[in-house]
Amino acid sequence: MNLAIIGAQWGDEGKGKIVDLLAPHFDIVTRYQGGHNAGHTVIIRRDGIEQKFVLHLIPSGITHPGKTCVIGNGVVVDPRALLIEMEDLRGQGIEVNPKNLLVSNRAHLILPYHVALDRAIEASRGGNAVGTTMRGIGPAYEDKMARRGLRAGDLTDPSTLAEKLTHTARQANRLLSVLGGEPIDEKVLIDDGMRWCDLLSPHICDTTYYLNRSTRDGSSLLLEGAQATMLDIDHGTYPFVTSSNSSIGGACTGTGIPPSLINMVIGVIKAYTTRVGGGPFPTELNDALGETIRTRGGEYGASTGRPRRTGWFDAVVARYAVMVNGLHALALTKLDVLDDLDEIRICTGYRINGRETDQVPYDANLMSAAEPVYETMPGWREKTVGINRLDDLPAKAREYVDRLSELSGAPFAFISTGAERNETIISSEMLSRHGLDLSI
Ligand code: IMP
Repeated sequence: MNLAIIGAQWGDEGKGKIVDLLAPHFDIVTRYQGGHNAGHTVIIRRDGIEQKFVLHLIPSGITHPGKTCVIGNGVVVDPRALLIEMEDLRGQGIEVNPKNLLVSNRAHLILPYHVALDRAIEASRGGNAVGTTMRGIGPAYEDKMARRGLRAGDLTDPSTLAEKLTHTARQANRLLSVLGGEPIDEKVLIDDGMRWCDLLSPHICDTTYYLNRSTRDGSSLLLEGAQATMLDIDHGTYPFVTSSNSSIGGACTGTGIPPSLINMVIGVIKAYTTRVGGGPFPTELNDALGETIRTRGGEYGASTGRPRRTGWFDAVVARYAVMVNGLHALALTKLDVLDDLDEIRICTGYRINGRETDQVPYDANLMSAAEPVYETMPGWREKTVGINRLDDLPAKAREYVDRLSELSGAPFAFISTGAERNETIISSEMLSRHGLDLSI
């Protein structure tokens, strides 16, 4: 059984928790796009002690012994960030070795000049800045598409690496001098490159063959999306997006696993909406309530610490995510954050230049002009934290959840009511219909 997990909003929906909860039931967990711009927070209890892990590049499955974690070909890998994350995990008592962490030899590298370029390009955008994570993601994907990038596989051949790094660094430095960015030191880059060869080569292999062979031989695969549908380079609020396909298409192109092998796709969605960085956000709350949701939900970036923008649930976005990804089900997260509200709004459509629509416009300017059309529901004003049975939800919370599902066009397979694994309502019956048995 192979399952893909996708963000259904603008990211930070709590995918890390859902992947972590599912990982014990899969043999392999793979990332397929993005890079260390992602921040997946996982909280687990080991030997009675609570441990918090923030994973950026390594699949969340790494905290589970016996699982193989794969960084797929569609991911952009910063060797420095990867090595730091490996060391941090080891420091927290997690085993990381060439058997449980594989990196695709086709995955493109983020090199220090990509980070410098990200900074310089963002600075040149002025008021139209995307608000990137400054991790070099966009420039690395640019080099990939321009067919001049270096790949993880290049780190397995030290004899040619110095020449490749010198060539690409010189090109990048020329560009940086035009953009007014800081040039990078070729010699330091080559020394670092040689060190990365030593440390990372044992992990680098052909994961396309590995994943296909393993799944055809009966291993189960969990495909862990980063970012989200509305940040997808094609389907998101372009140009305020990330530079990869974070919707379902990326799961195939970013692993080499064909669509026919993916049995189920689940979208993770918050009970309200957040977004980090610039770009349109029709249901944004720029008021005290927005601040309350930010504080209660701990809405600060896991990667950058930036405060997230907050707003009401947007069913136009949810329906779009269900459509674009063919979501079989949704995982609703952070319901408990709304526990104290008197009333709760849901956006059911947009009014753009005087006309109503239930569709996401293709143009970011039109999306910025969208006034949300709301329906209002009463709050439940009761604690839902930690509830793990649907029948135990307060009646009004249940009505809210049912309405979200109805408007989104997909059922909820999970409803998360807290950060811990057991603080989750799970529809086992729905999952088993798709071939996933969580009781095993
Ligand atoms: P980049 O991916 O660093 O190029 O940033 C592009 C846009 O995607 C910015 O608005 C970022 O804030 C946003 N972004 C990138 N990664 C994440 C994430 O993991 N969660 C939420 N937003 C993200």
